[in-house]
This record gives sequence, structure tokens and C-alpha cells, in this order.
Amino acid sequence: MINAALVESFDEPPHFRSIPAPEAAPGQEVVDVLAVGVHPATRGIAAGKHHTSPQSLPALAGADAVVRRADGSLAYVMVMGAGTLAERIVIDPATAIPVPGGADPALLVATMNPALSSWCALRTRVPFQAGQSVLVHGATGNAGSMAIKVAKHLGAARVIAAGRNRARLDELTGQGADHIVQLTPDQDVTAAALAEAAADVDVALDYVWGPPTELAMRAVLGARTQHTRLLDWVQIGGMGGDAITLSGHALRSNAFRVLGSGFGSVDMQIMQREFTQLITVIAAGAMAVRPHPFPLAEVEAAWAHHDAPGERTVIIL
Ligand SMILES: NC(=O)c1ccc[n+]([C@@H]2O[C@H](COP(=O)([O-])OP(=O)(O)OC[C@H]3O[C@@H](n4cnc5c(N)ncnc54)[C@H](OP(=O)(O)O)[C@@H]3O)[C@@H](O)[C@H]2O)c1
Repeated sequence: MINAALVESFDEPPHFRSIPAPEAAPGQEVVDVLAVGVHPATRGIAAGKHHTSPQSLPALAGADAVVRRADGSLAYVMVMGAGTLAERIVIDPATAIPVPGGADPALLVATMNPALSSWCALRTRVPFQAGQSVLVHGATGNAGSMAIKVAKHLGAARVIAAGRNRARLDELTGQGADHIVQLTPDQDVTAAALAEAAADVDVALDYVWGPPTELAMRAVLGARTQHTRLLDWVQIGGMGGDAITLSGHALRSNAFRVLGSGFGSVDMQIMQREFTQLITVIAAGAMAVRPHPFPLAEVEAAWAHHDAPGERTVIIL
């Protein structure tokens, strides 16, 4: 038997349980799990609110992990929906992404999920080129903060960080943001600030969506000075809502494209290639989300913990 965290009800946090040790079928490998991130998607899956949420319960919680393989090497795995929160899990070796020796498993698993969102968007979903400008809408969360670093790392000339939390925005100025815009309840002030700072961006990476995005799109499109300059608006997260209303006029009157980035929209083989490059960048120290560790036995406390800006709950096994 091994220790694990099981989702037994979508209305409760996962529970610490003992389960039979997994056995590998031909072509599979049993690996030791070292660290698992508790990301928004991990929580959404365990709450039955994600498209990869389990169809039947109980089910293993967890969506990604840093694991130790049979040969002693470390790897990062992402098994959306299949579960990673157990002392040992079964993986398809072809999906194991090598982790450079000496990398900190907790830091890596805290950082990968937030960082991959912008990395995959800029590298695979839009024709982003060094020298272009990027708006990060919802920059104060972990994924938004990483998006600033990722955009800069990939050569963005100018990154505009828009978010609600003023203190966090000020910190982001020292972490690569060239310009900050505070999203306030005053819609006119917010729209004017977005129009001034982001009128001519080439890419918007959007973690908010919902009504705040409707306002931001109107502000940026209304301020554009070159209407045929391509603007790719990439939906990545939905912290502000799951839907928007978009006028046909917005699409007709500017070279404006709306698309999404995430599991399903990027080919898995391409994702694997991009993950491998991103892991190297994180392991080299270019970007980091601070892990807030919990032991597996305290999985319920881990689920109840609210991460401070710049940190991510990580379960250490
Ligand atoms: N598609 C992908 O590949 C992918 C990958 C990773 C993450 N995501 C998604 O990206 C989103 C953010 O993830 P995360 O890891 O950054 O989560 P996080 O660290 O928990 O940050 C979320 C932040 O969103 C901000 N926020 C919430 N409601 C907002 C609103 N109405 N307007 C502006 N900001 C708002 C909050 O910042 P303040 O409290 O400071 O305002 C909060 O800190 C989630 O929806 C996640 O599922 C997608």
C-alpha cells in the first residue's frame, strides 16, 4: 500500500488515504513522486469544474509532478485528469520531460504551470517576434507575473502589466514590467489608462476574461493608431469570468484576432518540446514562483491555504 490524496467528493478537499501500490502495464513505468503543484487547474479538476475532471470518484488528485524515474533521473510530468498525488504513480515514459540535475523539484513544480501558460501562447499560438509589445491582462497572479518574465525572456521590447493589486504591480515594475496599469472599479479611469499604455501592443495575454476583458478590448481597440497592425488577444485564464460579448465591429475594424491557449489547442508533441526548453530556463534560475510546501498527510490544509502573491502551494512527498 502507498499514501495518496483522493478526491472522494467534488465538494470537499482531497483526503489523505492509503491505496494499493500501482503496477505498470507493458510500455508504462512506475515512478516516485517528489513534488506536486496545487495550481488553479489542480483545484478546478478536484472540484469537478475542469474539462479533465474525473468522471467517477474516488480519483487521485493532482495534475502535475516532479518524479524520480527508475534510472534515478528526475522528470516533470503533466497528467491532466489522471492524478499525481500519490507516493508512486504510473506514467507513459514518452511524456516524461527531463529535469536537469540539481534542479529543486518544489521550485520547478511551483513555477512550471504558471510559466508554461505564456510560454506556450507566445511560442506556439501567435507569430510573436522579439521586439514586439505585450499586454498582460491579470498580471498580479503567478501566471501573469511569469508572463512578464517569459515575454521579456523571449525578446519583448515592451511589456504592460495590468492588474488589480497595486502593491503587486509596483513589485512587477522591478521584475520586467515596463509599464503598469491598475484595473480599478472606475471603468473610465481604467479604460483611459489601458488606452494610453497599450494602444499599440501586438499581443495581449489574458488571464482575466469576463467583463474586465470586454472593457480592456474596447479600450485598446478604440485607441489603436494603426488599425491594420495585427493584435492577437490570447485567452489563457478566466479569473474574471468564463464568457465575453464581442461585437462584430471590433473584429471588422481592426486586424484583431481572438484565440485561446491551453490543453487542447496545442499539439502534445509540440508542447513536450516547449516544456523541455522552458524547464531548462527555469532550472537556470531565470524565473521562479516561491513554493509553499505541505507534506502529503496535510493535503486538506494545503487545499485550504491561500497563496500569497508570488507563492504556490506544493505538496512534498
Ligand atoms: N491555459 C493555460 O495553459 C493555463 C496555464 C496556467 C494557468 N492558467 C489559468 O490562468 C489563471 C491564473 O492562474 P494563476 O496560476 O496565475 O493563479 P493565481 O496565482 O491564483 O492568480 C490569480 C490572480 O487573478 C487575479 N484576479 C482574480 N480575479 C480578477 C479580476 N476580476 N480582475 C483582475 N485580476 C483578477 C488575482 O489577483 P489580485 O488578487 O492581485 O487582483 C489573483 O491573484 C487561472 O484561470 C488558471 O487556470 C491557464
